[in-house]
Amino acid sequence: MPRYTAGAVVNSAFLSQSYDSYARIEEQFNDALDRSLDPRGPDMLFDLVAELALQPGAVALDVGCGEGRHAIELAKRFELSVLGIDPVPRHIGIATQDLERESAASPGLGSAIGFELGSAEKLPVKEASVDLVWCRDVLVHIEDLDTAYAEFRRVLKPGGRALVYQMFATDRLEPREASWLLPTMGCVPANMQPDYTEAAIQAAGLQIDRCIVLGTEWGEHGQESTGKGGRKLLHSARLLRDPNRYIQQYGRENYDIALGDCLWHIYRLIGKLSDHVYVLSPRQPCLT
Ligand SMILES: C[S@@+](CC[C@H](N)C(=O)[O-])C[C@H]1O[C@@H](n2cnc3c(N)ncnc32)[C@H](O)[C@@H]1O
Repeated sequence: MPRYTAGAVVNSAFLSQSYDSYARIEEQFNDALDRSLDPRGPDMLFDLVAELALQPGAVALDVGCGEGRHAIELAKRFELSVLGIDPVPRHIGIATQDLERESAASPGLGSAIGFELGSAEKLPVKEASVDLVWCRDVLVHIEDLDTAYAEFRRVLKPGGRALVYQMFATDRLEPREASWLLPTMGCVPANMQPDYTEAAIQAAGLQIDRCIVLGTEWGEHGQESTGKGGRKLLHSARLLRDPNRYIQQYGRENYDIALGDCLWHIYRLIGKLSDHVYVLSPRQPCLT
């Protein structure tokens, strides 16, 4: 209960809690907070693939492969035959060059991996031809999520699996934050809602075998291993304090993407965004 003394409001309960009780345990509390909670990092996706026990030569499709790092890693770690597809020609060019370089050191890799232009909504492979669909950090961008998941279902062999990693918004993301961030980062707002995604998964005839909610873990892992979160925080401070310096040199659009990328990582670190991993498989038709 605040006490009124000579025109000032003194919240004695707060003063006592903050500057006495809390102050007594503050150092100890901070020591506890300095200790890692052992967050999982991106390598966990490969651990999940290992659990699937795919045979050497099994077929994987990396949907939205970007510059091809993960497709190459999947082939190296698990001896899979991998096709990476992406709609951005620059990505396919870089991935192909990297593959040529890697193939010089690992003969056989070149014939196990291919990269080509393509999109999640129209996968360039036959039905029931894929053992593993790998789709990491792509589906926020897809206008027609139902079609993408229907494509995953179409190309999976019976017994095949899809491993989907995707970011979602949480209740902590304020509407004004979402309305700037999501279009700036090319995200379809509905796709950032787990219910919407899970309805598309069901409608496609896929079932969710596992759903792992990562929350802040990858953000913590990045900060603990490379200081990535702190670097993004510092970059966002500089971008916000002196926008014109960066806009003049790199242009408004690139400024917005740089700020959006920083906020993306910061928001994940403080729980406004949360990534999920789904392991999916074709749903068996009901036999009545
Ligand atoms: C954040 S990057 C992720 C790249 C890579 N999967 C990774 O995890 O590093 C998003 C990728 O999605 C790709 N992408 C965007 N729209 C797509 C679509 N309709 N179909 C397939 N990929 C798409 C982009 O070109 C980009 O490579």
